Amino acid sequence: MKAYTLPTPSGPEGLLLRDIARPTVTPGSLIIRVHAISLNPVDVKTSHGKAMYDKLRHDDPLILGWDVAGEVVETGSNVEGFAVGDRVFGMIDFPGHGQAYAEYVRADGHHLAHIPENIGYEAAAATTLAALTAWQNLIHLAKIKEGQRVLIHAAGGGVGHFAVQLAKERGAYVIATSSGSKRDFVLGLGADEHIDYNEHKFEEAIEPVDVVLDSLGPDHLLRSLRVVKSGGHLFTIAAGISDSLKAQANERNVLVTHHLVQSNGEEMISLAARLSDGRLKAHVSQTYPFDQLPHALTDLEAGGTQGKRIVVV
Ligand SMILES: NC(=O)c1ccc[n+]([C@@H]2O[C@H](COP(=O)([O-])OP(=O)(O)OC[C@H]3O[C@@H](n4cnc5c(N)ncnc54)[C@H](OP(=O)(O)O)[C@@H]3O)[C@@H](O)[C@H]2O)c1
Repeated sequence: MKAYTLPTPSGPEGLLLRDIARPTVTPGSLIIRVHAISLNPVDVKTSHGKAMYDKLRHDDPLILGWDVAGEVVETGSNVEGFAVGDRVFGMIDFPGHGQAYAEYVRADGHHLAHIPENIGYEAAAATTLAALTAWQNLIHLAKIKEGQRVLIHAAGGGVGHFAVQLAKERGAYVIATSSGSKRDFVLGLGADEHIDYNEHKFEEAIEPVDVVLDSLGPDHLLRSLRVVKSGGHLFTIAAGISDSLKAQANERNVLVTHHLVQSNGEEMISLAARLSDGRLKAHVSQTYPFDQLPHALTDLEAGGTQGKRIVVV
């Protein structure tokens, strides 16, 4: 089969398209013929030797990617609920070695869900790592309730566009930040207020909130802390939490959490139900053929992604 390996951490251009052996099935796993892959910033960071690279560097070959949608071609003897021919999607083995940049992928059945009949492979592949991140922070950890005020940064991107929709489904009042070019997109997702970060400092433009989802790093996190009510919750998915931030959060009676997304088939089933009945929509802004995958990663790295970028295999 064809797969992209990363022989050295030299960025997207260092990915090598090679012929390698197909993965073999184990009792608890199944083999998927991949039809679509979604790309994430963690892929780009790892390709440069950051993020997951240290964890994976001794695996040979190192194959990036975690998000797939495809068709089951083989099942292990202990796998329940999936059969050959099923259409499935999921974030495979994160934070481990997902090996998704390939024509065939081995996946733990517990990381997958069936793709609803009315959903294509591209939209399914899009609704994986980014959607699980939004779900785990806002639904599982924050347990957002009706009427709460929620600030979602980078609302036009992969995580953000799912986060806005999930928070709205819970009945929250959503304030969303993005560049001006994504204003209509973000409001179309259901956001109640939009802040163009090039025009306004969000901390001067909005009333206090109960929950923030931040993905933009330490300085931004400190600014976000200023808008959280006492008793509120600040989530960061990008940066570690400094001692200074912790001290300031304590003083303000704000809980700060850094969460790293985890593979989870049960949550994938919840996302599938929402895709099926239209409560959740994946926005695929651009698709690329498999031989353009490094180029797609370079586009992602350039920033400004709206929704998700998908590679079709
Ligand atoms: N901890 C975890 O488990 C986890 C999981 C997923 C992602 N992440 C991290 O979270 C970050 C976002 O991921 P993603 O997949 O959503 O990335 P993405 O799809 O590339 O989206 C990033 C978005 O940020 C917007 N943006 C840039 N600067 C901004 C600013 N100052 N204010 C508001 N928006 C801004 C960009 O467009 P505009 O500038 O045009 O608005 C873009 O839409 C990445 O660093 C990623 O590694 C962490």
